[in-house]
Amino acid sequence: MNFFKISWAILLCIAISTSSFAQINTSTEKKIDSLISLMTLQEKIGMIHASGAFTSGGVKRLGIPELVMSDGPSGVRREIGNFWEYYRKPRPGYLDSSTYLPVGMCLAATWNPILGYAYGKVLGSEANFRGKDVILGPSVNIIRTPLNGRNFEYQSEDPYLSGKISVEYIKGVQDQGVSASVKHFAANNQEVDRRTINVEMSERALREIYLPAFKAAVVEGNVNTVMGAYNKLRGQHASHNEYLNNKILKGEWGFKGLVMSDWEAANNTLEALLYGLDIEMGVEIDLGTDPTKYNKYVLADTSVVPLVKSGKVPESVIDDKVRRILRVMYKTRVIEGNRPQGAYNTLEHQQIALKVAEEGIVLLKNTNNILPLNKSKIKSIAVIGANADRKNALGGGSSQVKAFYEITPLQGIKTIAKDKIAINFTEGYRIERTPTANTDSLIKEAVKLASSADVAIVFGGWTNKNTDTDRLFLDAETNDKPNMDMPFGQDKLIAAVLKANPKTIIVLLGGGAIDITQWEEKASGIIESWYSGMEGGNALAKIIFGEVNPSGKLPVTFPRKLEDSPAHKLGEYPGNGNTVHYKDDIYVGYRYFDTYKVKPQFAFGHGLSYTTFRYNNIKTRKIAPDKVEVTMSITNTGKIAGAEVVQLYIKDEKSSLPRPYKELKSFQKVFLKDGESKHLTFLLNSDAFSYYDDRNGKWVVEPGIFELLIGSASDDIRLKHKFSL
Ligand code: GLC
Repeated sequence: MNFFKISWAILLCIAISTSSFAQINTSTEKKIDSLISLMTLQEKIGMIHASGAFTSGGVKRLGIPELVMSDGPSGVRREIGNFWEYYRKPRPGYLDSSTYLPVGMCLAATWNPILGYAYGKVLGSEANFRGKDVILGPSVNIIRTPLNGRNFEYQSEDPYLSGKISVEYIKGVQDQGVSASVKHFAANNQEVDRRTINVEMSERALREIYLPAFKAAVVEGNVNTVMGAYNKLRGQHASHNEYLNNKILKGEWGFKGLVMSDWEAANNTLEALLYGLDIEMGVEIDLGTDPTKYNKYVLADTSVVPLVKSGKVPESVIDDKVRRILRVMYKTRVIEGNRPQGAYNTLEHQQIALKVAEEGIVLLKNTNNILPLNKSKIKSIAVIGANADRKNALGGGSSQVKAFYEITPLQGIKTIAKDKIAINFTEGYRIERTPTANTDSLIKEAVKLASSADVAIVFGGWTNKNTDTDRLFLDAETNDKPNMDMPFGQDKLIAAVLKANPKTIIVLLGGGAIDITQWEEKASGIIESWYSGMEGGNALAKIIFGEVNPSGKLPVTFPRKLEDSPAHKLGEYPGNGNTVHYKDDIYVGYRYFDTYKVKPQFAFGHGLSYTTFRYNNIKTRKIAPDKVEVTMSITNTGKIAGAEVVQLYIKDEKSSLPRPYKELKSFQKVFLKDGESKHLTFLLNSDAFSYYDDRNGKWVVEPGIFELLIGSASDDIRLKHKFSL
């Protein structure tokens, strides 16, 4: 490695970055200059690595506090001591509960950026209350395979949708004075071998699929911090990857904030110094309680001082890292000033959790309008399934939340039923690592209950962990699901209950697609409820009984079978233990199913309502060479109010490089009273028409015929319109 060449490149990045920082104000930069001039090398190095489980070093002598961070993407995590001691033994009485918001997939399923902002506002306010400077979210990794154990925490298979939701989430957090941390940058799309796997993918896949949500977070969301991923990309660890951090993030996108590693994701001192890592976070949990252990890692005294003293690494490289950290500290008043007091578990926060759940739950199937249930005509309901009464807040790993409370579906249904409807519950299947239950007797009990009830509701799907230390469950960090099959014998249960009582509703919980082909044709009503947070049970009950008209839309495709999924059909998953090749390339999710004409179980953007909508009057007007104004009308033609997500896809009729059949380029969620119409306008600029030409390394808009496809789902196009650019 030629250090001088690299050093010049780094210095050039530093020069570019400091000259074009949008938010930089010169008085702050001057303060930073003087602070840095007063610091010793050791003090600077103390700032660029962890000083505790969730803190990075400050300089007490100069009044620079530590930077205090906290997970996670859907709630401020329980307090964890510097040596993770609370991780194992929750400290009784210590007030570290918080609002448990619905998980990322549920938020994305709202297709409502306004809720993204409200969601971020709750996180920022509760982070303030708990004294946190950085909330470690949003998680925006693309959902490439249905098996990824962390899909629930992420948002979508489509970078445009994920970007729109995350930008508002970030603004919501940062308007509270707290930093967000968009993660995990980049290509962290599986948990199998997550710390070592090397991802190989084309430049088009990287630019068109895996980076855009991060770019939106930086360029539109103005995110203060970025968390590097564990995996490698093209042979170099993502947390200190020259191409990702220096060339793209800090170079092309002009990112002026700080890059932290995922926990213990820094692996090489020279790379970490030269390839854009500003703070090394994490130390092995099991290294005991030696307080000096934090200064024995990759970006610590022992490893960095000799490199600087020997001149191998210019001290200006360290200074740029410290500058970025101080910039974030000034911007969020960690230095000089104080942030709002913040609040926790307020009624407002609970209402936002409820609203996100109400708008994120998806009505997948409603044959013969079996839903909503009419509570004045129903006398008894059989509630079946362990998921009906299971709490999920502590699940999932680092995104766990110690919720103030969590309303399960069973509780939500009982609240609405009151004493008017008899509710009988049976677990139907048992959630356990090694099967001990007699599944036949559980099914027999469920069939008996269903047969004698007016309606049966089965709660199945995936499961989160529900205790700190469970390393088992299916939707969780550090492991992927073994397949897409329904676990714990649910298929057999559901088939038996459907046979016993055709008036049966199936509710699926969890992190996305699951194989329901064994019984789906016999089921009239199917709902996807994700992990919908502390108010999820209330939201679900309100939808089941029609107090809320569902408006959620799938942010991911539900394949019929795992082998239909592009990562498994075209691509490799999980790779050979060293490398995984994303041969599915740009054909992720609906981009694959549409282009290769494979019918999914449920399509991207699919979600039913209790009312109906009419789309008409599409018109286009070219307002500049590559700017098009699209207008259309939408009417609620049903008898109740409802919300519709109008999705706008673009089809490039002819391009010199292959493109997916269509791509989501805009959407609007509209709320309409019965009979009400609204006139919508979409403004499309070059982003809507361009693709990344990796032959010349740039985005191109090729003139020619484009087709607008506007609809209620990617497989439910209501209006089409061709025009030429
Ligand atoms: C974890 C996760 C990351 C989390 C961090 C701190 O390994 O990958 O998302 O923020 O460590 O808990």
